[in-house]
Amino acid sequence: MILLIELIDIEKQYIRKKAEPFIALRGVSLKLEKGEIFGVIGRSGAGKSTLLRSINLLERPTSGTVIVGGDDLTKLGEKELQEKRKKIGMIFQHFNLLSTATVRENIAFPLKISKLPAKAIRQKVDELLELVGLTAQQHQYPRQLSGGQKQRVGIARALANDPDVLLCDEATSALDPQTTDSILSLLRDINRKMGITILLITHEMGVIRAICDRVAVMEYGQIVESGTVLDVFLNPVHPITREFVSEVSDTLGSEALNAFAGAGRVVRINFRGEQTYEPVLYETVRGTSATFAILQGTVSRMKDVPYGQLIVELRGSDEDVNRIITELGQRGLAVSEL
Ligand SMILES: Nc1ncnc2c1ncn2[C@@H]1O[C@H](COP(=O)(O)OP(=O)(O)OP(=O)(O)O)[C@@H](O)[C@H]1O
Ligand SMILES: [Mg+2]
Repeated sequence: MILLIELIDIEKQYIRKKAEPFIALRGVSLKLEKGEIFGVIGRSGAGKSTLLRSINLLERPTSGTVIVGGDDLTKLGEKELQEKRKKIGMIFQHFNLLSTATVRENIAFPLKISKLPAKAIRQKVDELLELVGLTAQQHQYPRQLSGGQKQRVGIARALANDPDVLLCDEATSALDPQTTDSILSLLRDINRKMGITILLITHEMGVIRAICDRVAVMEYGQIVESGTVLDVFLNPVHPITREFVSEVSDTLGSEALNAFAGAGRVVRINFRGEQTYEPVLYETVRGTSATFAILQGTVSRMKDVPYGQLIVELRGSDEDVNRIITELGQRGLAVSEL
């Protein structure tokens, strides 16, 4: 794995008039590997945008180190920093398009600043229009576009200088669910086909689950939990993470079982990968004289990985039930007694 971005112990204080400085980031460290899609989730005010904007030094951290592609950005001069920023694309919740420029002109804008020859600009813009599916709308103005189309312009513009990384600040928060899906699948295609690393921030766990490989959860200026999306989803530890996970309807919570009054022992079993489709539970129970009843169950997919969760009541002697739990564990399933 190649490290693309490393944030080390970032602290950010906002200086305020007539008030103490506000500490928006408290010692945040983060590593981004080349080619991954990394999500940061947190409630409003958690410090997500501040974190994202410290990567290209739109917000300069009060202390800490920002390394992008091997260079410590905090040590670069203004001109070198400008060059470096070209390789860091950014898209925004409210698109930030030039309202008096057409789709084509908006996308060409960063290329003009880079002083590319007119012919090269035309060619590149044609490619980008094709990529985001806006060739037919290229002469329209932003006010003549839907929200999803505007974000496509934003994405094309962010890709104009062939960045290594794309920073997305709530890129789908202003869009309806269907449009959100289409933008997320575009981002995913861009990541796959062009190998561009993506860092996205959101307050929606659904966005994380749809396209991210890894996730960090932020609260009060700190990262309180992080890991692969699958691990964090299946075993959320921090209360705020649990809250986010429970917002996605098809993961199971023990709350629904409060009224349960069965005689057996209730366990939650997490399946992942191809195991999800194997009759592991049946095979394990079959060798004992115990039986089971499924109380809740779901099979879904996180990015490309299938996963399943079952909440099962195991009925039998303690010895049999213990044996089943041990064997499920040995077969690589995560089992926890509720
Ligand atoms: N320029 C500023 N001056 C003072 N305080 C600021 C400034 N910018 C942000 N803050 C404060 O820092 C905290 C973190 O802000 P930030 O924008 O990073 O949060 P966020 O997680 O992106 O929130 P949201 O989900 O609402 O976009 C907030 O409490 C905010 O009020
Ligand atoms: Mg924000």
